[in-house]
Amino acid sequence: MTDSTASTAVHVPHEDIERVLFDEAAIRARVAELGRKISEDYKGRPLVLIGVLKGSLFFLSDLSRKIEIPHKLDLVGARSYVGAGSSGSVSVTKDLDFELRGKDVLIVEDIYDSGRTLKVIRDMVALERPASIEICAMLWKDLPSRACDLEVRYVGFHVENVFVVGYGLDYLERYRHLDYIGVLSPEVYR
Ligand code: IMP
Ligand code: MG
Repeated sequence: MTDSTASTAVHVPHEDIERVLFDEAAIRARVAELGRKISEDYKGRPLVLIGVLKGSLFFLSDLSRKIEIPHKLDLVGARSYVGAGSSGSVSVTKDLDFELRGKDVLIVEDIYDSGRTLKVIRDMVALERPASIEICAMLWKDLPSRACDLEVRYVGFHVENVFVVGYGLDYLERYRHLDYIGVLSPEVYR
């Protein structure tokens, strides 16, 4: 029987996780900070959060609930990664649902890696002529250089150049549900 009165769970990471980088509490605290900052910065403005499927799903839903000002949500779909290496090309799999003209758009992405996905999404959003476009990335991968340099206004955490999963990030659609962000053991994709 499970103990429904237990308030803290003992956290044993998934066996494929080499190490945990950000646990649930750290993520929650950082998302709350970002939500407060975004609420201040966009006060009185017609804010629309656009999440990039599927990696940003959990981040988007948590962040939205920490933003204290009215805002709308939309989702776009993009796919660029096959396995643990960038395929280099990005395809859009779900388009925008509503008009963005005159709106202040904040693109919410899981990770700023090569920047290719964000560039494609940003260009797609720009065609709608919003009043402004900014990017919020849960993770910023520290790379010596990247294919597309973009201005990312809000960053959750920096990570070294390793393959990470959890809290929305996947490897072949697995590990998204983990409530922490961790480094995937290289044995899994070797
Ligand atoms: P891009 O290389 O910046 O275009 O990243 C494209 C997508 O690849 C991101 O939105 C993620 O979904 C995925 N991705 C990049 N790095 C990682 C990683 O370390 N783990 C899991 N997915 C990643
Ligand atoms: Mg993604």
